[in-house]
Amino acid sequence: MDRVFYFSSTGNSFYAAKRIADALRAEPEYVVNYDGEDVNAERVTIVTPVYAFGLPVPTVDFINKLRTEASVYIVLTYGGALFGAEKAAYYTAKEAGLDIKAVFKLKMVENFTVLISTPKLYMSRTLKKAPARMDAIIEKIKRNAAFEPKCRKDGRRDSEKFREGWRGMGSKLWVSEDCVRCGKCISICPTGNIELAEGKIVFKNNCVACLGCYHRCPEHAIKYSKRRNRLRYFCPLVNEADMQKPIKRD
Ligand SMILES: Cc1cc2nc3c(=O)[nH]c(=O)nc-3n(C[C@H](O)[C@H](O)[C@H](O)COP(=O)(O)O)c2cc1C
Ligand code: SF4
Ligand code: SF4
Repeated sequence: MDRVFYFSSTGNSFYAAKRIADALRAEPEYVVNYDGEDVNAERVTIVTPVYAFGLPVPTVDFINKLRTEASVYIVLTYGGALFGAEKAAYYTAKEAGLDIKAVFKLKMVENFTVLISTPKLYMSRTLKKAPARMDAIIEKIKRNAAFEPKCRKDGRRDSEKFREGWRGMGSKLWVSEDCVRCGKCISICPTGNIELAEGKIVFKNNCVACLGCYHRCPEHAIKYSKRRNRLRYFCPLVNEADMQKPIKRD
């Protein structure tokens, strides 16, 4: 039996997780909703974006919490610069006591658009190539391929300093007068970092820089620093409504 877990803010990793889950007759499960139960499966696949040449905080927290004897695969989606993220992922899983077999990478569209702009033609070319690249990854997972990452560099591992950096980035998010208080950002934030207080959207101090609120606000009302009009992105290969079941909160 297979289980497929994912973290995703703009749909790229959800796309990969959905493709894998469909091929392995499983359902994509959101890592934030994992409650620490024993995962009785033969194979577990974790799909996640790369953040700063390493893993996002919610993925690291999930890996450290995951209880399973299964063979584990990690699929990284990324925008163009891995710099050893495969090793970071592999050894994060190994140090958490998981039976990690391999880490795959899928080039997708860069969603760190608060600082970087990706040309539209490059984006459409990348998306066109994604299905065939996924076919190759699925084929390797199906035949239980096992290998250590060959990259020379070791990517960034999780640390308190790393978390602090994302919190600092989150402190630069703000909401413009275009906000219609629909509450979507509150419901999709993976860390419960957004709330409505006295009729206004406010950010707390637990941002993990996923940029989900920034990209998916229907009014583009969430801004970063002084950069007012950067590209907003959501993966066109998936339906946003399918992606994230409501987050379980205590
Ligand atoms: C905070 C942040 C940091 C990122 N760092 C990297 C990086 O180091 N290298 C890279 O290639 N892409 C980086 N990206 C881009 C994402 O990895 C990429 O767009 C990914 O496919 C997004 O997945 P999602 O749509 O499932 O959220 C970063 C994105 C964010 C939001
Ligand atoms: S998603 Fe956008 S419009 Fe809706 S409450 Fe959040 S900031 Fe306001
Ligand atoms: S505040 Fe926005 S960027 Fe920060 S974790 Fe929540 S959804 Fe992601």
